[in-house]
Amino acid sequence: MSAKKILTIGEPLLRSVSHPVKKFDSRLSMILRDMAHTMYDAQGVGLAAPQVGLMRRIVVIDVGEGLVEFINPEVIASQGEIAMTEGCLSVPGRRGCVIRPEKVTVRAQNKKGSYFEVEGEDLYARALQHEIDHLDGVLYVDKMSYEVFDDEEEEEEQEGAVIG
Ligand code: CO
Repeated sequence: MSAKKILTIGEPLLRSVSHPVKKFDSRLSMILRDMAHTMYDAQGVGLAAPQVGLMRRIVVIDVGEGLVEFINPEVIASQGEIAMTEGCLSVPGRRGCVIRPEKVTVRAQNKKGSYFEVEGEDLYARALQHEIDHLDGVLYVDKMSYEVFDDEEEEEEQEGAVIG
């Protein structure tokens, strides 16, 4: 198990569309372990495979309730709208206010290929959308309403602003 280097903005792979996972084998399990390790090491609440240079539709998330692995995730329903401060491990040192749906339902496969659905709100909904965007080459800076600077932060203290 090893922490991988996280690619940063400017790297073309972060702007590419990742491919669906078709093989649910031991290599996939190894990738998931490495991704979780990399996410925890970097203190993010999520990580998408293209951030470590793997163009596969794989996401890991832990918003403090345990690790969840998502293979081929898709947002199948969303509700509401909310502004939140976001940061990204691939956009170091910056944060921005992004408006996104408040709740989402995501359908994905687990590492054995079985389908499951989760409903997320708050930080979990945010992380799901942020990470799934990475699979399509989209970064939060593409969607942000405005950049958030440190001196503005006091009033707007957000848990886990760096998503992953
Ligand atoms: Co990110």
